[in-house]
Amino acid sequence: MNNILSKYIRTTFITRFTTMNVFNTHYRSISNCNILYKERSTIPLYIEAIEFERKKIEAIEGQNILDICQANDIIEIEGACDGTLACSTCHIYLEPNIFTSPCEDEEDLLDMAPKVIEGRSRLGCQVRVTKQMKNTTITIPTEFSNQMY
Ligand code: FES
Repeated sequence: MNNILSKYIRTTFITRFTTMNVFNTHYRSISNCNILYKERSTIPLYIEAIEFERKKIEAIEGQNILDICQANDIIEIEGACDGTLACSTCHIYLEPNIFTSPCEDEEDLLDMAPKVIEGRSRLGCQVRVTKQMKNTTITIPTEFSNQMY
């Protein structure tokens, strides 16, 4: 009974914080805590960047790409606004087969980012890892701009 109750509380907690942008900063600090993801499966992903070309990492389902990159010391992705959808320094390219459309606010930021590729560009802080992403490659663009200044 305790397990069911704690699972319900954890699921409700994660859902609430992932759907409310106003709590995004708070959620991000919590999302680094792997306790929330303990029961979720790991998904192998590849990150492609100038500094190391291609690197295999194990991501936890539900984590966002910015958190994963920061947890794996990938310094080419900055995340200046800490995932609050205000900077576009977390610009990434997804493979076309796993691309999902961004929300309007994200699209507005992407409009100001350099080297945007239609059908591939997203902001890493807004993309959460799913099972469909298994063995796909996330590419970090060679240029980015910061819309906060
Ligand atoms: Fe600023 Fe993603 S970290 S928009």
